Amino acid sequence: MKEKINEAFEKHFGGKGILFVAPGRFNLIGEHTDYNGGFVFPGAIDKVIMAEIRPNGTDKVRLFSLDLDASAEFGLREEDAPKEQWARYIFGVCREIIKRGGKVEGFDAVFAGNVPLGAGLSSSAALESCFANALNELFNDNKFPKMELAKIGQSTEHNYCGVNCGIMDQFASVHGKKDNLMRLDCRSGEFEYFPFKLDGYKLVLVDSRVKHELVDSPYNKRRESCERVAKKLGVETLRDADMAMLDAVKGEISEEDYNRAKYVIEEKQRVLDVCDALVKGDLETVGDRMYKTHEGMSKLYEVSCEELDYLNDVAKECGVSGSRIMGGGFGGCTVNLVKDELYEPFIATVKEKFNAKYGHEPKIYPVIVSDGARRYQE
Ligand code: GLA
Repeated sequence: MKEKINEAFEKHFGGKGILFVAPGRFNLIGEHTDYNGGFVFPGAIDKVIMAEIRPNGTDKVRLFSLDLDASAEFGLREEDAPKEQWARYIFGVCREIIKRGGKVEGFDAVFAGNVPLGAGLSSSAALESCFANALNELFNDNKFPKMELAKIGQSTEHNYCGVNCGIMDQFASVHGKKDNLMRLDCRSGEFEYFPFKLDGYKLVLVDSRVKHELVDSPYNKRRESCERVAKKLGVETLRDADMAMLDAVKGEISEEDYNRAKYVIEEKQRVLDVCDALVKGDLETVGDRMYKTHEGMSKLYEVSCEELDYLNDVAKECGVSGSRIMGGGFGGCTVNLVKDELYEPFIATVKEKFNAKYGHEPKIYPVIVSDGARRYQE
């Protein structure tokens, strides 16, 4: 990837820029909890967006996306927003830095990535974090702390891409640390690194390669349900709610909103259970909670789909310790915790069965927990 980027930079802009990378993320547990003030437990992965960037002394940004084989150019004022969706991620990052009193001047950039698109591995957060980190270094003497870089990415999604996401993806892409997961308290912003060791087990993502584009932005709708219930309960977010409070208003809210909130309240506890179990090396409890999360995401939060439920069933049949849908939902991957001795048979079975039912094999990505956004070093 690096050589191809260098070559394209030379061809489109001449000479050389500086290389930056930022990773996608996986999440062990804590899904749809971030925008509810709860906990998440992600790590950065070894799949990245890489960009070669160089200030060009003008007030224009010129981009070339190697994967799309497409160029875009824009100015840095609000009214200069590009029409290409992919370029809006970078425009958004520039604007959000400027809005926060930072500096961005014109630059040239070529970028590419190996974070699979639409797999729930946060390729867009990787793109935002890569540029936020690079522009912080190139134009702002690194004055923005890491958490602010994550917020710059998150605001880009809100204000320029129409997704009212939480902070998890950008947080993980910016703060990732090799061989460590991070438990983030999304209410206070405090987080802790957890050394991630899996004695006798492997963690693997099984990518269904399906993406259900549902009308009406279901992600934002889930968030609205949660906010409605929080308001009804008189709390800021569902972080401050428990089942007794929810049951007390059961008759006054829709069944759908009740189910959404129930999932979030239960998921909050599951993240804490998993962190404790991980510290004790009790990976069977970790796995048990993963299955419970899947069940909740499928039946209560309703962000699963037939293919992902099937992957979950196959995992269960194969004796996999834990398996669940990962990320926002409606397609993408399951994350699976598998005993070493079951790994090969599980992979063979899941490929064969999924292919027989849906006509294509899922993709398999072993989880390799890696570093966050950074200047690229050989
Ligand atoms: C997407 C969002 C995150 C988070 C997850 C679900 O990845 O970008 O903020 O809400 O969905 O956990």
